[in-house]
Amino acid sequence: MSPGLAYEILAISGDSPSEATIESFSALRLLSLQTDPESFGSTYERELAFNKDIWFQRLSSPFKRTFISSARDEGGSDRWVGTVTMLGPSEFLPSTSEILEKAGVDRSCNVYILAGMWVHPDYRGMGMGSTLVMAGLDWVRSNNDPKNDADGHGRKTVLLIVANNNPKGRALYEKIGFKDWPEVVSDDENETWMMMHCA
Ligand SMILES: CC(C)(COP(=O)(O)OP(=O)(O)OC[C@H]1O[C@@H](n2cnc3c(N)ncnc32)[C@H](O)[C@@H]1OP(=O)(O)O)[C@@H](O)C(=O)NCCC(=O)NCCS
Repeated sequence: MSPGLAYEILAISGDSPSEATIESFSALRLLSLQTDPESFGSTYERELAFNKDIWFQRLSSPFKRTFISSARDEGGSDRWVGTVTMLGPSEFLPSTSEILEKAGVDRSCNVYILAGMWVHPDYRGMGMGSTLVMAGLDWVRSNNDPKNDADGHGRKTVLLIVANNNPKGRALYEKIGFKDWPEVVSDDENETWMMMHCA
């Protein structure tokens, strides 16, 4: 961390997020889509059109969890500057489930997905990205999803997609322990699935 920069990682509770939380999160997400459009499957234009209900649904579920890195400036003000979301199998889009099924991945083997990873350009290279992923992995370890096996305490596997022209993203994930998962082939040849087991 650079001298003078303090930040903390917050988990947005899926239990009825407040209006202020929804506003701060939607602003952060839209900024990420605007700043790094090539890093995401979605687009700024698509999500700009989301109404409050859609943003609320994004955040309110026990089967996914969004983490925020909140930086404190020298004047004592807090600013949301980074985010990542972890999704359990109850939250997978049909298109995701289809890809995993084609690859022979059994949901009951406790599969999670990491998505929406972003750190504001002014705060990159200070360890925030890694800290957000570690917070997400801790949540995965402790989360029980009804679509997982009976007790949810077995080994869990986290999957993510990284664009092939994103060396910084790939370096971050590899440093944490993710590896390419060749069994899961994307329809898009410009991206690669990565995976990591976490106990
Ligand atoms: C990828 C991203 C999240 C990294 O966030 P970050 O806070 O800078 O990451 P960290 O500081 O924790 O760095 C973690 C590792 O990432 C890699 N990394 C970070 N910045 C890098 C850079 N400029 N060049 C190469 N590797 C870099 C390094 O391996 C680094 O580990 P090290 O510091 O021990 O060398 C950030 O660059 C980002 O938001 N990019 C745009 C959105 C994006 O690509 N999201 C991922 C989509 S899959």
